[in-house]
Amino acid sequence: MSTSKNLKPSTANVTAESVSTSAQAILPDNEAASTSQSKYWSDFVGRLDPYVPGEQPTIANLVKLNTNENPYPPSPKVMEAMSQDQVDLLRLYPDPNSKSLKNAIADYYSVEQENVFVGNGSDEVLALAFMTFFKQSKPLFFPDISYSFYPVYCNLYDIQSVQVPLAGDFTIDLDDYGQENGGIIFPNPNAPTGIGMELDTIEDFLKTNTETVVIVDEAYIDFMAAGNARGTNSSAIALIDRYPNVLVVQTLSKSRSLAGLRVGFAVGSEELIRGIDRVKNSFNSYPLDRVAEVAAVAAIQDTAYFDSCCQKIIETREWTVAQLTGLGFDVLPSSANFIFAKPTKSDAATLFARLREHNILVRFFAKPRIDQFLRISIGTKEEMCALVEALKLINDE
Ligand SMILES: Cc1ncc(COP(=O)(O)O)c(C=O)c1O
Repeated sequence: MSTSKNLKPSTANVTAESVSTSAQAILPDNEAASTSQSKYWSDFVGRLDPYVPGEQPTIANLVKLNTNENPYPPSPKVMEAMSQDQVDLLRLYPDPNSKSLKNAIADYYSVEQENVFVGNGSDEVLALAFMTFFKQSKPLFFPDISYSFYPVYCNLYDIQSVQVPLAGDFTIDLDDYGQENGGIIFPNPNAPTGIGMELDTIEDFLKTNTETVVIVDEAYIDFMAAGNARGTNSSAIALIDRYPNVLVVQTLSKSRSLAGLRVGFAVGSEELIRGIDRVKNSFNSYPLDRVAEVAAVAAIQDTAYFDSCCQKIIETREWTVAQLTGLGFDVLPSSANFIFAKPTKSDAATLFARLREHNILVRFFAKPRIDQFLRISIGTKEEMCALVEALKLINDE
């Protein structure tokens, strides 16, 4: 496979998501503090460029559509699992191998327990995977518009990277990833665009890229397919038997409403999983606490509740897309629990600030090519109605 683009590796600091000057008034606390240095730090700490998460304000009546959380509560089975017995057991360390959770995930995806790795949120799983697979002499390839934690990990571990431009229609073109590489990572569906990729396209690429690890970050995969056993139809987990170099990373933060619990996992060949385990056991033997493990098992096993929440979000997403299109927005095709929408009647930064005045919080990225878009998480139907009403009011002002 060849590529016409001349892509140069970089280890330069790549700026994580940041807000524009017009939005300075609502900078998260950690970003304001991040510029001051200390003589007590190791030299490299001053050179880090940490990720800035979306704001978590505690303002009453705020319609919070900025961090792709699920608007519905976790399965009621989660509460049942967090029993007094479990609390009593907190005096003991948890199982360092989180076997019951690995079994639940293995059952759900029809793989073996040895194919599963679990961690404290998929961010931690990704961080360990970057260290395990991507510290290579050749650069890591990932899309230029993608999850902004990837350049942050590259900076932390001093991994050379090539950021491959998305195609003109904001899709990932895997033909552009054919150069020699030290690994590849991309989200499917991509974030913040929301655009999904067919499994066949990923498999065609894996046939050509056999020597390095390819991570498919499926944080939003469960919002892609319709029907029961959601996500299992479109997930690249189906490919792990045939392609020992593919690692699929997922999270319980989005489709299973457990962002606050911090549970993520990876599924891949036994040899990949053994590698991440070595790194994990050189860092933290017990990434998952007892309560997180029992709650995560309960959430994975309650497939009926999970299916119905995902279905509601998909339906609300389609309704919202139709409404915003009617209001003159250009909306990228979304397979996720958020949409990426370009207002045509006003500038995105201004609209972000105006929505905030109406108590509606969305996400704005002051980054080339996407600074005219807003990323809007899909909330309940009532929350999305409030968004549409506010947009109409702003339009009329
Ligand atoms: C593409 C992508 N990957 C991974 C994550 C991390 O999710 P968590 O650490 O909550 O599992 C996110 C969070 O927003 C994401 O957007």
